[in-house]
Amino acid sequence: TEFVTAQEVATMMGVSTTEIISACMSLGIMVTMNQRLDAETLSIVADEFGFEVEFVTADLEEAIEEREDAPEDLKPRAPIVTVMGHVDHGKTSLLDYIREENVIAGESGGITQHIGAYAVSLDGGQKITFLDTPGHEAFTAMRARGAQVTDIAIIVIAADDDIMPQTREAISHAQAAGVPIVFAINKVDKPTANPEKIKEGLANMNLLVEDWGGKIQSQDISAKTGQGVNELLEKVLLEAEMLDLKANPDKLASGTVVEAFLDKGRGYVSTVLVQGGTLKIGDYVLAGTCSGKVKAMQDERGKIVREAGPSSPISILGLDGAPQAGDKFNVLEDEKEAKQIAAKRSQLLREQSVRTQRHITLDEIGRRI
Ligand code: GTP
Ligand code: MG
Repeated sequence: TEFVTAQEVATMMGVSTTEIISACMSLGIMVTMNQRLDAETLSIVADEFGFEVEFVTADLEEAIEEREDAPEDLKPRAPIVTVMGHVDHGKTSLLDYIREENVIAGESGGITQHIGAYAVSLDGGQKITFLDTPGHEAFTAMRARGAQVTDIAIIVIAADDDIMPQTREAISHAQAAGVPIVFAINKVDKPTANPEKIKEGLANMNLLVEDWGGKIQSQDISAKTGQGVNELLEKVLLEAEMLDLKANPDKLASGTVVEAFLDKGRGYVSTVLVQGGTLKIGDYVLAGTCSGKVKAMQDERGKIVREAGPSSPISILGLDGAPQAGDKFNVLEDEKEAKQIAAKRSQLLREQSVRTQRHITLDEIGRRI
């Protein structure tokens, strides 16, 4: 891991960047002012100037470091799926169709709340968790924060249109993340639909779908009539089976924040995706720079639940703020520890923003000279 830049170290120690660079040079290390230094170099350089480096976060964060699960503790878990595609190609329609078709009859009168993610149970009893955030955001914002939550990407392409810029973008996001793609060639109910043209276009991009002798799954669908949607979900499950997705449900929960907001009546509501362990009422949660005891949990149907295992999307009450989408969350044994780490992270963030501000000023002066 690399930490701060040569310039930032200089600022922290109140010496010039040139002094840092020449100190490094005398140690046989060539650095530029915007280069990040690793722990060892940092320690040696700091020592040269009579400072000692203290890696504060590292120590504190050790408390939340996860141990590897023993293979026998791993249980199958539902796939987490993101829907992506070009504007108006039918992402929302597909998600809505799937959600409405699979709402368990009679439950809360079938009224669904929007909580950013939802799980569906199929007829065969299998479950799929859908991330209901705009696909690109799910990938860009969350991945920028180091969170990888998606197992499979459904990329929707309208059969009465072409492979469009955002289609290409979605494909490259999924490929960069190493997430398998299932294509949903949508709007086949339209007389102008030409699914073969889309598949040909994909083939020209070196993406051979099964009909074209390739390995990538695709399904012609209509999000409007529901044609092909079950087959699409079957293909998603097939893909999931090949991934052999597993998690350990028998430990303190951890996962990722999907979204969070302040509700007038209920306080901060955070939707999280449990990725490991089981989240329970009364647990102490640390999420980004926020913490708190879980007071209540609800699923996407507004149903009160007491615990949530791997791949469950769940909205929780009780955090002292709104963490950001993509923040990791962890359950800690100790409430005080959760608070301390949250406070330390906030402090570091503040310091960092002060430092970056100073950084910019120095940079600008440099340029003017
Ligand atoms: P953005 O969120 O704006 O990027 O669009 P989207 O991809 O979510 O598309 P949306 O589901 O909003 O659908 C766009 C339009 O296409 C709407 O008018 C839908 O009714 C229509 N539409 C979606 N799927 C189908 C389909 O299978 N058949 C037909 N005929 N129309 C569809
Ligand atoms: Mg939409």
